[in-house]
Amino acid sequence: MLTTQQDRLMGEINNLVDVHGSERSALIPILQDIQKRYHTIGDFEMQVIADRLGIHPVEVYGVVTFYSFLNEGREGRFVIRLCRTISCDMAGKAAVAQQLRNDLGIEFGETTADGRFTLEWANCIGMCDQGPAMLVNGKVFTRVTPEMVHDILAACEKTFGPHTPQTEEEHAL
Ligand code: FES
Repeated sequence: MLTTQQDRLMGEINNLVDVHGSERSALIPILQDIQKRYHTIGDFEMQVIADRLGIHPVEVYGVVTFYSFLNEGREGRFVIRLCRTISCDMAGKAAVAQQLRNDLGIEFGETTADGRFTLEWANCIGMCDQGPAMLVNGKVFTRVTPEMVHDILAACEKTFGPHTPQTEEEHAL
């Protein structure tokens, strides 16, 4: 994202904080306004909102992934976000990223053709001492290894039946 875009988004989020306040209760109204305007809520916006409200980024990710009305731009039933920030990078993020690409057959920023998985990068989610860290529909996985990727994806696959509607188990995975 360009610096000018980031500046514009930060300004907009600051305005929303002025309108809605900086209490935890302002989180959903702020997210709704961002969603209304951009039809999706990206990692950068989530990080800035967490900073401005003084809450953990995982809380913001959790809310966005839990409420479908905040999540319209995400196509996959499971949204996997691998932290790409420096501590996770040094802890072996690259091998985990490659395993995810191999197993899902997609690049970061893409969704599988069957609509089951979306693969995204995340910025620091506050688990720096336990990297590589990853979120699957808002649930945190730490010290992720390439071997763990198989197990995590297999657990996701288990929730898919021939005609499974989106269920609470998918959020709770
Ligand atoms: S650097 Fe990955 S969680 Fe902080």
